Amino acid sequence: MNLSNNTILISGGATGIGFALAHQLANRENRVIICGRSESNLAKARAAVPALATRICDVADADSRRDLVQWLNTNYPDLNIVINNAGVQHRRLLEDGALDNVDQEVAINFTAPIHLIGNLLPLLRRQPKAVIVNVTSALAFAPLAGLPVYCATKAALHSFTMSLRQQLKTTGVRVVEMIPPLVDTNLGTRDAAFKGGLSAEDYATEALLQLENDKDEVLVGTSANTRKLGEALFERMNGY
Ligand SMILES: NC(=O)c1ccc[n+]([C@@H]2O[C@H](COP(=O)([O-])OP(=O)(O)OC[C@H]3O[C@@H](n4cnc5c(N)ncnc54)[C@H](OP(=O)(O)O)[C@@H]3O)[C@@H](O)[C@H]2O)c1
Repeated sequence: MNLSNNTILISGGATGIGFALAHQLANRENRVIICGRSESNLAKARAAVPALATRICDVADADSRRDLVQWLNTNYPDLNIVINNAGVQHRRLLEDGALDNVDQEVAINFTAPIHLIGNLLPLLRRQPKAVIVNVTSALAFAPLAGLPVYCATKAALHSFTMSLRQQLKTTGVRVVEMIPPLVDTNLGTRDAAFKGGLSAEDYATEALLQLENDKDEVLVGTSANTRKLGEALFERMNGY
């Protein structure tokens, strides 16, 4: 696909992977809109890349999503790429009953992209060519036991993405899954175990190359191996 002259929405585009994608796509003559919950993060992103359009939206909130969709229909009727990138990650010890925010984690990572896709499909289907990109994780294929709900949401989004691709295959809407490996961002509460990943900029460069080359699954770095070996890696990853 041609990665110029598109109109692109990136949820969670003010920081981390989303911002790196937004920055590089804006540099390639696309109109890029980023959304997120924090106005200060959006303002920082705008200061760094003035070409970005920004919109406050909590993708897990139905009213907020509806406002975003209406605003996009009015202001960006040529929207043709949606990157469902917003996500959160919580460590959970289920035996301690630590279920705070569990519904929110599921809503942001899994339910929100489904609703946003459903709400935006009419607009996307009006374009000659459109792309939906769902950002999952290598952990969709081999879970880290300390992130049980996060990994399950990403596995669920992977499954949904496969079905969506099949349902839309006779339309002009392509469905792509980005499956990042460990990338150095502020996702979740990160300690030494989460250091040593790719930089968000390097990840975005390679991911966009694969997107440009029409890959259905964007597999950068170690995520290719994790995708292939899947649960066979579980014991090694979880210190058995
Ligand atoms: N970093 C990694 O190692 C890694 C690996 C595999 C997959 N991923 C995935 O990559 C995606 C981006 O994560 P990241 O690593 O770049 O972390 P990040 O910097 O924390 O980015 C997450 C973004 O999502 C936004 N967000 C969270 N909840 C939201 C909501 N309800 N509505 C709208 N925006 C929301 C956040 O902004 P606000 O808080 O301002 O809303 C933030 O900008 C996530 O889906 C993550 O699961 C990351």
